[in-house]
Amino acid sequence: MNPFFISTPIYYVNAKPHLGHAYTTIVADSINRMHRLQNRQTYFLTGTDEHGDKIVEAAARKNQSPETYAEKISTLFRQIWPLLEIENDRFIRTTDPEHKECVQKILLKVYDSGDIYFGEYGGHYCYGCERFYTEKELVDGLCPDHLEKPKFLQEKNYFFRMTKYLEPLKQHILGNPDFIRPERYRNEVLGMLGDELNDLCISRPKTRLSWGIELPFDHNYVTYVWFDALINYISALGWPDGPDFKKYWSGAHHLVAKDILKPHAVFWPTMLMAAGVPLYRSLRVHGYWTIKETKMSKSLGNVVEPMSMKDKYGVSCFRYFLLREMQFGLDASFSEEALVGRLNADLANDLGNLTNRVLAMTHKYFKGSVPVTGKPQDLDRETIELGLESFREYVRLYENFDFAKALARLWVFVSHLNKYVDQSAPWVLFKEGNADRLQTVMYVLLEGLRKIALHLWPVMPGASEKMLDQLGVKFDLESIDLAAETSHWQGLDAGTLVARKSNLFPRVDLSLDKPEGSKESQKRKKDNDPLVQFEDFQKLEIVTGKITEVNKVQGADKLYKLRVEIGDDKPRQIVAGLADFFAATDLEGREVIVLANLAPKKIRGVMSQGMVLAVRQGDRMSLLKADPGVEPGKRIS
Ligand code: MSP
Repeated sequence: MNPFFISTPIYYVNAKPHLGHAYTTIVADSINRMHRLQNRQTYFLTGTDEHGDKIVEAAARKNQSPETYAEKISTLFRQIWPLLEIENDRFIRTTDPEHKECVQKILLKVYDSGDIYFGEYGGHYCYGCERFYTEKELVDGLCPDHLEKPKFLQEKNYFFRMTKYLEPLKQHILGNPDFIRPERYRNEVLGMLGDELNDLCISRPKTRLSWGIELPFDHNYVTYVWFDALINYISALGWPDGPDFKKYWSGAHHLVAKDILKPHAVFWPTMLMAAGVPLYRSLRVHGYWTIKETKMSKSLGNVVEPMSMKDKYGVSCFRYFLLREMQFGLDASFSEEALVGRLNADLANDLGNLTNRVLAMTHKYFKGSVPVTGKPQDLDRETIELGLESFREYVRLYENFDFAKALARLWVFVSHLNKYVDQSAPWVLFKEGNADRLQTVMYVLLEGLRKIALHLWPVMPGASEKMLDQLGVKFDLESIDLAAETSHWQGLDAGTLVARKSNLFPRVDLSLDKPEGSKESQKRKKDNDPLVQFEDFQKLEIVTGKITEVNKVQGADKLYKLRVEIGDDKPRQIVAGLADFFAATDLEGREVIVLANLAPKKIRGVMSQGMVLAVRQGDRMSLLKADPGVEPGKRIS
């Protein structure tokens, strides 16, 4: 069996980890564990991307050097992953000396082979994406991802002859249906290759940016951040001669979200071709976590903190929800209600109750000891067959990155076992003294639970190990034979002692039926109270701002699209119903007060990231502002 290598994107260190980063890293961990469960040799790589404009800007905002700032945020990522039960083999940083050396080696190789040349280029540069956009790629003149106007830059730079490799890349994609998955992204990339693509600008003059890896053939330039970052996937493995590179590269799978499809599906494979390195095996692309239909991202200010979810609902439930809720490849909407819904229905009700009932019955009928199985009847045989088939399908779907479908398939069996308890009614068998049948039914149930717990290890390792422990089994990765697990119904030894009960997945109530006087009911009272508590007010981020640009919103007479500076943060795009009251020129340059942390929302197809505060009196509208001299970005308290 080929060794398995999985990578996540290396994350920018301009912001702390959010749910989007946690999702990709949990998926990588979980698919890696599915391979570990089958005793394959695996390598799981993640890390941080630390060079470039973005980081310099973020560090400057905190009055820190890029080095200090990058170190601080990179540490946050490294500390958070184990708390989410993520076990990576390596955490790479683009500031690691071996990585820098590797990037320079590749650059020199490609330069020597004649695929890097010097030229002049003008283009629309988005600092958020750290790349140039063509006119065609912009939406209403804005970067489609950051909704900001890119800056037109013209300068002399080094270029990678990417166009030379586009046709070979197309042939590779056509000849290898699994190279980019799911299908929709493969088609999207084939579409990109049909468009006119240019050579890739791979340097930045040091006069503009010095925080990067110096080009080995020109000391006045640093490497473009994507050329630097993508190489992490092989520098971590010790390219060209390292044993890990030799062992793992042929089994390399990259995991990314759709935002960085192009660098991974076009830049990276053409870079590998030019450097004479074999291509990775497959690119797996997932969609976005959204909040109320808007992508969750730091620049839109609507991020969910993974640690708060973990602290509130537990790491197992959090991981289960992420893997179960998102159909891999499509966007999924995040809400606490949906998370609690899944927790209560799938984990507390279906699996938790079943486990509790089975453990309690084992104690009642067999003093807590696993019985010897009797002779199976039709109902038992059907249950066993369905179970084995469910486990096989689950593993197949899981390995295909179809996590939601895999879990749904596993839960068909969990639901079946719940029905099986009712149909076979062990309490009646006990009353009737039908010992042989009672033993069979209880063994089918206990072994079924053991197999379920084992198969859930990639999803929720901690809970899986605890559940196995409750079933009297010590989790031991080395001794597991998953193929055998899905072909026969044996495993639990008769006589094994099981726990009395299992409280792994307690129900969560979103505070509706909590008794009066409880903390939750007091909170509910507060929530319904017409008086605003101080901590509620504190949640509002109301700041001073300045309108710098005013545009009409197409097809909406009353609306303006405003660009509002709010200090050192990114300028906001706000859609406001001010067109009946002000001419655009009257608004430009006006000082205003802005509610800056209003959930972003699309209004008439245009993204709005805040609200300008105003008072209306009859036909007049007056904009709130602070006294003269107060700079943009000052918080109202
Ligand atoms: N540094 C580059 C990647 C270089 S890889 C050689 C980068 N960093 S990032 O910090 O912006 O991370 C982007 C990745 O974070 C996405 O591809 C995805 O894995 C994850 N996500 C960030 N926001 C997300 C959502 N809202 N939803 C799902 N995943 C998200 O790009």
